[in-house]
Amino acid sequence: MDDTAEIGLIGLGTMGANLALNIADTGHRIAVFNRTTARTHRFAADAGALAARIVPTDTLKAFVSSLARPRRIILMVPAGQPVDDQIAALLPLLDAGDVIVDGGNSDWRDTRRRAADMGAVQLLGLGVSGGAEGARHGPSMMAGGSAEAYAALEPILSGIAAQYQGAPCVAHLGPDGAGHYVKMVHNGIEYADMQLIAEIYGLLRDGMGQGADRIAQIFADWNDGPLSSYLIQITAHVAAATDPETGQPLLDLIVDRAGQKGTGRWTVIDAQTRAAPLPAVEAAVTARVLSGAADLRAQGASVFADGPGAVALDTDTLEAALIAAKVLAYSQGFSLLGVAGAEEDWALPLPDIARIWRAGCIIRSAMLDDMAGALQASPETPLAFAPSFAGLLRTHIPALRSVVAVAATAGLPVPALAATLAYFDSIRQARGTANMIQAQRDFFGAHGVERTDRPGASGLNLPWPPLV
Ligand SMILES: NC(=O)c1ccc[n+]([C@@H]2O[C@H](COP(=O)([O-])OP(=O)(O)OC[C@H]3O[C@@H](n4cnc5c(N)ncnc54)[C@H](OP(=O)(O)O)[C@@H]3O)[C@@H](O)[C@H]2O)c1
Repeated sequence: MDDTAEIGLIGLGTMGANLALNIADTGHRIAVFNRTTARTHRFAADAGALAARIVPTDTLKAFVSSLARPRRIILMVPAGQPVDDQIAALLPLLDAGDVIVDGGNSDWRDTRRRAADMGAVQLLGLGVSGGAEGARHGPSMMAGGSAEAYAALEPILSGIAAQYQGAPCVAHLGPDGAGHYVKMVHNGIEYADMQLIAEIYGLLRDGMGQGADRIAQIFADWNDGPLSSYLIQITAHVAAATDPETGQPLLDLIVDRAGQKGTGRWTVIDAQTRAAPLPAVEAAVTARVLSGAADLRAQGASVFADGPGAVALDTDTLEAALIAAKVLAYSQGFSLLGVAGAEEDWALPLPDIARIWRAGCIIRSAMLDDMAGALQASPETPLAFAPSFAGLLRTHIPALRSVVAVAATAGLPVPALAATLAYFDSIRQARGTANMIQAQRDFFGAHGVERTDRPGASGLNLPWPPLV
């Protein structure tokens, strides 16, 4: 039997092992290699019927020799130095036209640097979303690299991707770091989406005294409506689960400190450097940081012991508020993609991005289909101003306004809900308040202003009277 593999994969951890099984499952012969050889053998031994399509290899040389040309090699190792090291080890063994795919969560700038340093070997930076389950049964994948590199991988990627009504959730989004950039922003939006849900959960739990089982039911009901999404579905699911040992809701047994691996923070820093407003993600990242400051929060709770008050809100209002906030958070994310696409010369295809997020990835939702439609009709228009979403905001903003007001009055923190509302009120305010900032700057630092009555002339110092 011909032992040549169509594709190879290095790094049989959580993501790599599942992706390799998915590739084998879709009919491809795949060679695998892992730094720790025992893991390779364990993987092949556990592959069941798929083992016939898996070629386990113990050395990098044997791995490369087992691949058909042009060689296609997927790396699923931790981002950073391991990717550089693995590429450096592979390059002497490869030939012009071979393609290395970096499927990890690499910083898009690293992908750009590596793509420029690879010589005649090509690099495809591939953002993969959907966790272990997605990798096994259909992830959403965001590719960046040359058209040739993508063409070499496209048949396999389309086969293993999640499908939304028959359309594979994978696309070539631009050169070099474009795929990893879009994956980073996907994760930033994911942070915002999760934080908005957590804040609504907090109002139900702390303001309305609802138990986890009732909260599970509320989210399950919402999952049948406009909020229908993977994140709402798993929110209902985790809220309903009980601890077999104690019989208590598992949710109530979890310490309230959120972890993070950094892609949310990267998104916020990137947005700030581009002067692209992203307040929902900023609020979400800050909330995770504050969640880690348990001592500070315990101290605050004892210094200001008059805890939060009760809130009276109906579930329809909470649902409508969450819908409005979600639209505004996603609008911010897509606007950032538009700015970055122009600045980096990627011309990111926003409707395609919304389309490949409709299935497979963590933020998959029914609403992304509507977003794809709105972005297709008018890619330059911020989502929040697209006719269908502007209409939805008009009817749902009053709910967001009352939820934020009621939460603030009761003393319950809703930073992401409040940030999306402030964003909305800012983007519809034709004359803002920055004239005051400019007056202060010109007064103390002679930074210069523009006058409303002298358009075109900037840097004007005004005749401020001295402070007495
Ligand atoms: N987990 C997720 O839900 C998820 C989702 C999307 C993207 N990602 C990204 O996918 C990538 C892989 O994540 P994972 O969760 O699969 O990681 P993981 O379970 O920790 O597995 C890491 C794999 O990389 C290998 N490895 C580690 N350091 C290495 C090095 N210096 N040189 C060569 N190989 C090395 C490990 O080999 P050994 O067996 O020898 O340790 C292991 O096979 C990361 O970039 C991650 O951010 C993860």
